[in-house]
Amino acid sequence: PRYSRILGTGSYLPPKRLTNADLAAQLAADGIETSDEWIIERTGIRARHFADEGVTASDLALPAARAALEAAGMTAEQIDLIIVATSTPDMIFPSTATLLQHKLGVHGCAAFDVQAVCSGFVYALTVADSMIKSGAASKALVIGSEVFSRILDFKDRTTCVLFGDGAGAVVLGASKEPGILAADLHADGRHANILCTPGTVAGGKVIGDPLLKMDGQAVFKLAVGVLEKVARAVLDKAGRSEADIDWLIPHQANIRIMQGTAKKLKMPLDKLIVTVDEHGNTSAASIPLALDVAVRSGKVRRGDTVMLEGVGGGFTWGAVLLDF
Ligand code: ACO
Repeated sequence: PRYSRILGTGSYLPPKRLTNADLAAQLAADGIETSDEWIIERTGIRARHFADEGVTASDLALPAARAALEAAGMTAEQIDLIIVATSTPDMIFPSTATLLQHKLGVHGCAAFDVQAVCSGFVYALTVADSMIKSGAASKALVIGSEVFSRILDFKDRTTCVLFGDGAGAVVLGASKEPGILAADLHADGRHANILCTPGTVAGGKVIGDPLLKMDGQAVFKLAVGVLEKVARAVLDKAGRSEADIDWLIPHQANIRIMQGTAKKLKMPLDKLIVTVDEHGNTSAASIPLALDVAVRSGKVRRGDTVMLEGVGGGFTWGAVLLDF
């Protein structure tokens, strides 16, 4: 049998870091009121990173990809598949993955984007795993990269305090041992309107609203339910139980959603990887960013069983269970 396994991880945050107080001061200049206390209490976020003007998703993806390649002891020439999960691509087309491929200085391998908003990384990882298992690829770069600061409405305090920019990457390689044990993906387009950036371009103009809109309470309710359900589904598929999970790495959107999920899975909170405090919600980048931080800090080690869980716009959700 042929499986896939993570060979290395990497991540990158743009240098500009804004604490809640920095952001509150910036918003106050426009007459928008918020506070460090409100943001921490409702979300667990203390700071986020924002890319400078002109910096794109492929720019953030590049150092993350290089770090993952280095950790795997590989060069970009050895990669035969690049998948970038993003909802803030450099362009409408070509894909961010092809632009990243060029920036890596390699040419010829398959490269495409996956768009599943905050579930993008678990979707992309599942696609790469399937392509490796089928023999269509043998060494894949799978990346989540986002510049959500580009689509934030800084006049809407209910959303602009929640998000940040960044990128996380893994190298996924063919292996005789798993690796990825099971995956489970879902979507329900009936809820498209509760979290969306509805604008587009046509006739040389932006048509509709190009900024992020969210019904936070509706998202919260849906997220808590599906994260528990999909975790159980993926454990069932893998023939494992909650007790087998060493580390839970959910999408980093809100500490209350994350802790609620851990509690429902009867997992102690010290098995929950938390980076939302320092990164904010980086959408498709949040899970690989959190994974890389956890690996480099020595928490996640070779052989540990890790549950990755994504949830976000679409509405989409999914989980991947793996032996690291
Ligand atoms: N600063 C200060 N006050 C604020 C802010 C802010 N930034 N934002 C909202 N408020 C006010 C509201 O106006 C409201 O005031 P009112 O009572 O006078 O009307 C009050 O705070 C409470 O607002 P709620 O929307 O009820 O606050 P809630 O406790 O639901 O928290 C939040 C809002 C944090 C968005 C929450 O609903 C949430 O986390 N939802 C999940 C959404 C999420 O995490 N999305 C991320 C993307 S989706 C994903 O990745 C899964």
